[in-house]
Amino acid sequence: MLLHLSTWAEVEAFLGRSKTVVIPIGSNEQHGPTGLLGTDWLCPEIIAHEAEKNGDIIVAPTFNIGMAQHHLDFPGTIALRPSTFMLAIGDWCRSLSHAGFEKLYFLNGHGGNVATIEAAFSELYAEASYAGRKRGFACKLKNWWDLAGVTALANRQFPVGHGSHATPSEIAVTQWAYPESIKTANYAPQIAPTGPIREATDFRSRFADGRMGSDPGLATPEKGGELVKTAAAALLQDVAAFGAETAPA
Ligand code: NI
Repeated sequence: MLLHLSTWAEVEAFLGRSKTVVIPIGSNEQHGPTGLLGTDWLCPEIIAHEAEKNGDIIVAPTFNIGMAQHHLDFPGTIALRPSTFMLAIGDWCRSLSHAGFEKLYFLNGHGGNVATIEAAFSELYAEASYAGRKRGFACKLKNWWDLAGVTALANRQFPVGHGSHATPSEIAVTQWAYPESIKTANYAPQIAPTGPIREATDFRSRFADGRMGSDPGLATPEKGGELVKTAAAALLQDVAAFGAETAPA
C-alpha cells in the first residue's frame, strides 16, 4: 500500500502485520540534456510502487530532495546541504518510529546522498547510545542499482557508455514510466567526460551538458521496463529479509 493514499486507520492495521516501511529517497537535479530533473527520485519511486503492486509492503511518500549542491549551476536543481538533509531524515525516521515502524528501509536513487544518509543513521543511533538504550528501530540504505541482478542487467544492456550520471539505465527507467516525457538531443561528445565532483561552478565547467561518462541515447523504455521488473522483484525479497531480521535480546 501507498502511505499517502491510505488513512491512519489503514496504516494502524498494517502495523498489526508488519513493522517495516519502504521510503524512496533521491534528489531533484539536472540529468543532462535529456534526463528529467526528477530522475533520481523517480527511479526509486517507480521501483517501489511497482513492487507494491505485487507484495504486502507499505511505501512512504518519496523524499525527493537530496544532496545536490554540485548540480546547482543547472536550473531546476533543488538541493539540501548535508546538515539540513541529515536533520530532515532524522525527523522522518522519528515520525515513522513514533507511529510504530521498527524497520526503515530507504531505497535510494542518488549516489551523492549515500554519505549523508549513512551519517543521519549514525546520528540516530548515537542518540540511543548516549542515552544507554536501544534505538528501537533499524535503518537500511539500499541503492536501487544495488538490488540483486540490477547492475548485472544494466551491464548487459549498456556495456559501453553507462557512466555515472545521467546514465542510460536511470533514464530508461523514467522512459518506461513516463513515455510521454521522453526527450531527445544530439550528444556531443556521444559519451560524456568523467572527473571529480566538487562545487557547482567547477562541475559545470567540467561537464558542460551535465552528463558524467554516459551516453543516455542508449536508453529505451523497453530496457527500463526490464530494469524495473528486476529491481521490484529484488526489492520485495530484500525488504522481507530486512523485516525478518531479529536483534539479540
Ligand atoms: Ni541520477
